[in-house]
Amino acid sequence: MGLPADEVRARLEAMAAHDVPTHGGRTLAYVYDSGLAEVDVLARDALAAYASSNGLDPTAFPSLLAMEQDLVRFAGRLLDAPEGFVGTATSGGTESILLAVQAARDARPDIERPRMVLPTTAHAAFHKAAHYFGVEPVLVDVDPVSFRADPAAMAAAIDDRTVLVVASAPSYAHGVVDDVTPIAAAAATAGVRCHVDACIGGWVLPYLRSAGADVPRWTFAVEGVTSISVDLHKYAYTPKGISLLLHRDADLRRPQFFASAQWPGYTMLNSTTQSTKSGGPLAAAWAVVTHLGDDGYAALAATVAAGVRDLIEGVAAIPQLSVAGEPDSALVALRADATLDLFTLADELLARGWYAQPQLSFRDQPPTLHLSLSAATAPLVPDFLAALRESVEVAVEDGPVEVPPELVAAVASIDPETLDDAAFEGLLHVAGLAGADGALALPERMAPVNALLDVAPPRLREALLVAFLDRLTRP
Ligand SMILES: Cc1ncc(COP(=O)(O)O)c(C=O)c1O
Repeated sequence: MGLPADEVRARLEAMAAHDVPTHGGRTLAYVYDSGLAEVDVLARDALAAYASSNGLDPTAFPSLLAMEQDLVRFAGRLLDAPEGFVGTATSGGTESILLAVQAARDARPDIERPRMVLPTTAHAAFHKAAHYFGVEPVLVDVDPVSFRADPAAMAAAIDDRTVLVVASAPSYAHGVVDDVTPIAAAAATAGVRCHVDACIGGWVLPYLRSAGADVPRWTFAVEGVTSISVDLHKYAYTPKGISLLLHRDADLRRPQFFASAQWPGYTMLNSTTQSTKSGGPLAAAWAVVTHLGDDGYAALAATVAAGVRDLIEGVAAIPQLSVAGEPDSALVALRADATLDLFTLADELLARGWYAQPQLSFRDQPPTLHLSLSAATAPLVPDFLAALRESVEVAVEDGPVEVPPELVAAVASIDPETLDDAAFEGLLHVAGLAGADGALALPERMAPVNALLDVAPPRLREALLVAFLDRLTRP
């Protein structure tokens, strides 16, 4: 027999104490908190009740099919879907995106080396899809001031190998909505699918628009938009593990489905990447969406929008900081002047109980600090601004993190294609990150690590982080 249940519970609680808090509004990435305790209880009850149900077979679990269709209908209304639209529940934004890319590729078997046109701000999940499905990403620079996709450049990048064109509503890094209308029109003219990634904004933007906000159109109301991904586990404030992928019509979705009768067991029939899938996240999402309804979400969107306004106003009074672009929803990216190191700022904020996410420099764009505001964050914005002002003061005093020249040289000498365990080990030693027995010794402060990664080109960053993950996940 293992441990008694009470002790197991106590251990779970003790382990969670080292995590960033999922609730309370002070974690400004990864988690989304409505601030409504009774909604969380409802969600957890539904999650637990359906945790062992299996979405693999909708005929065996018709309740899951019914809940999925309810959520798809709700989303369809929100996203101006036309008659005949269809949708699928997936495990998250990345899976929705993977399936959109896979379906676009498989709809064009005539194209031998398929491509997709992405603004550089498209989520990294598209690069993962490119890697998994052998679809070449064609990256198009965004406007350097607004950070929105450049429609003319996107149109020019479409060729006879293009199977998909992508836009974001909004982009994760800067929180701005691309000008979808001309992008989708160019795709339609070329006879190519156009996917709008509304994973993070799809449940907020429509309510802001209904309330009068000047949000550019990006839904199925825009001609040429063929599919949209929208996550429930973000701004629908439901537990993790659920997103929706909507297609304008059933024909567009068909290649997403997979069946195999090539073995002696049950005929595998899947609408998603997962086969066995817990009914928990779906049931929890159904419960939360059904409970909150349009009124609930409209109120939460208004709360978050007020929080964003207060935040932007507060940041304007801090001379070392500015907001990148003009955020359209609940996401804000902060930029720093030369006197302020953003990585140090992130550490100082964390020391004061606020988690903000550093975003490394990319092409000619300097690093930024990402803030995803939740409804629960909005009333705390004055507290956040106080912590921000204090943190800026300390970070300016500390000065920028200098990466020692020998470390820069060590990084520069690494070839990402051949980075092996021994080379990574060497780097850990030079960086002072190697503990006993080759274990990682993570520093208290992440600024030196982020500064080091920031001087590495993207391919090397990837190789270093994969080596890091490999170390981190050895038993
Ligand atoms: C715009 C956008 N697309 C896709 C994703 C990926 O979603 P997930 O982390 O649920 O896989 C995210 C996540 O933040 C996102 O912001």
